[in-house]
Amino acid sequence: MERIDGAPWVGTSWKMTKTLAEGREFARGLAEALAAEPRLRERVRPFVIPPHTALAAVAAELEGSGVVVGAQNAHWEDAGAWTGEVSVPQVADAGAALVEIGHSERREHFGETVETTAAKVAATLRHGLTPLLCVGEPAEVRDAGGSAEHILAQVRGALDGLSEEELGRVLVAYEPIWAIGEHGRPATVPELEAPFAALQGEFGSRTAAILYGGSVHQDNAAELLAMDDVDGLFVGRAAWRLEGYLELLRLAAG
Ligand code: PGA
Repeated sequence: MERIDGAPWVGTSWKMTKTLAEGREFARGLAEALAAEPRLRERVRPFVIPPHTALAAVAAELEGSGVVVGAQNAHWEDAGAWTGEVSVPQVADAGAALVEIGHSERREHFGETVETTAAKVAATLRHGLTPLLCVGEPAEVRDAGGSAEHILAQVRGALDGLSEEELGRVLVAYEPIWAIGEHGRPATVPELEAPFAALQGEFGSRTAAILYGGSVHQDNAAELLAMDDVDGLFVGRAAWRLEGYLELLRLAAG
């Protein structure tokens, strides 16, 4: 299977949803759908980020399917007395090839900082996995006109000191906090122009891709993907049902 150059990334994190059986069923259905529709695999880079409990089972179901499987978080140390945490080698052992880092829910509720995101990006790269660094500003910062500056500071801080080769393996997702989740509203194309221009201007040619996330749905995905600066979509709720995710993959495949 040859994937076309520049195929968009379209992935989902399940956050704290799905039992093991539900995760397995989604993954099995996804593998079957991709086998039946090879053009989706040729034209899109799909990724799925289950909760840790379903990681190994989902990775096993998706082996050979062309779907990248990721973990929602991993610690910066390889092992040790860190009760409740899992390390990059552990998520890799469970089948993850990607690690999501710095989602706004983790920054807000679990004390993720620029320093911890930098440590986690470094650990992820050290073990040969792909970091998916999430950045985004709150509504007050947007209203004060500070979006670009805020997200650039988050990206610079997390990627500080990386070689160009390492930078080239990093995925960035711009997810404005005000756009995420049940209380969020999707960013419009005009609202995304300046933040994406800023991110692409400084990091576009140096990182692997820059994605948009936050209330992506089947009815706004096409216009977001049509933006030159948007290299893919990172989706929550609209992709938690397999049919919803497949619809997004089909839209992205064009
Ligand atoms: P949402 O979540 O699509 O449900 O808004 C996006 C995210 O948090 O990545």
